[in-house]
Amino acid sequence: MKPVKITEGVYSLRVNHFNRRLFDSLIPLPEGTSYNAYLVKGSEKTALLDSADPEKAEVLFDYLKGEEKIDYVVSHHAEQDHSGSIPLVLARYPQAKVVTNPKCKEFLMTHLHIPAEKFMEVKDGDTLQLGGKTLEFVYLPWVHWPETMATYLREDNCLFSCDFFGAHLATGELFSEEHTIYEPMKRYYAEIMMPFRSNIKSHLEKLAKYEIKFIAPSHGPVHKNTRFIMDIYRDWAVSEPHNKAVVAYISMHGSTYALVSRLVSRLQEFGVCVEKLNLEQPDEGRVAMALVDAATIVIGTPTVLTGAHPKAVYAAHLANLLRPKAKFVSVIGSYGWGGRAVETIAGLIPNIKAELLKPVIVKGLPTEADLKQIDDLAALIAEKHKGAAIPCQTVRI
Ligand code: FEO
Repeated sequence: MKPVKITEGVYSLRVNHFNRRLFDSLIPLPEGTSYNAYLVKGSEKTALLDSADPEKAEVLFDYLKGEEKIDYVVSHHAEQDHSGSIPLVLARYPQAKVVTNPKCKEFLMTHLHIPAEKFMEVKDGDTLQLGGKTLEFVYLPWVHWPETMATYLREDNCLFSCDFFGAHLATGELFSEEHTIYEPMKRYYAEIMMPFRSNIKSHLEKLAKYEIKFIAPSHGPVHKNTRFIMDIYRDWAVSEPHNKAVVAYISMHGSTYALVSRLVSRLQEFGVCVEKLNLEQPDEGRVAMALVDAATIVIGTPTVLTGAHPKAVYAAHLANLLRPKAKFVSVIGSYGWGGRAVETIAGLIPNIKAELLKPVIVKGLPTEADLKQIDDLAALIAEKHKGAAIPCQTVRI
């Protein structure tokens, strides 16, 4: 494999993992993923930016075959999909220094047992000269870990952003296209960055002062259309939620589904965009993506024994971890003889700072009176969205 030139002296060493199907043993990867390292060659020094998941280290070393000297290994993030091969890189290039911030150094020493003398610590805004190439280090803590940072290559206006602006997408294309990158980026943002939305907002503000022609993330393709990329991130992280309701449900004998079906129809009649998610065999990535811009989340669950269905419990727990910006939540469902489905779900989502709209819990197959309650809930959601949500037509896909 040969490094792929992005611009003069700047190369992509993308390690595609086409057949990886799960990340963090949790998140489905429908299009695989990639671990991107980059090489920046100045007239005097050479820097390798990040490495690769050790499972694919041989691909990284294939790229490095002709590279006799690496002076610096910049580590933006200690998670092993980017840092895991650094000990192997240091074994091959023993003179190289690992350039990173003190927190990342601490993590790399703990997780990978890299000795302290191998490091060169940098502060936010510090620069490193390679000879005609100036690396500026930009702290961006809590992209999803506390030690994350980026590097801005001044002469080429290139931001090496690590996980930030990344996408789980294995591809041979060097650069992203808007129509194919939107969904993988949204999925990626939803899974790891949504819980840190306020940090992401600050990071976007911090980056606004830089002229950025290329964004080179550590997953997926390089972005040249940087305005589009920044705009979609602002929509996800900063904008008000959309006039959209996510109705995530599970039904055992059809009663809960009858409520869900009526709610979806009525919401659509009221002009609310709806994403209906069957939780029988959930794709956690799709659930996460649906939550990015929804103003309302409705969980539909039957009562199992004395509480909510375990699959609804799982979805509620996942949503709570992801901290979406929804403003309203509700629970609908049916029961046979009693139970505490609403209490179970409500107790699972303390991180979602949303108003609980009156749940609709009915006994057995819903009657016309029960369905009227669903109609009222749909009307209430539509009313609440007025002024609290932006039109969902602004979603760019
Ligand atoms: Fe791609 Fe947080 O590692």
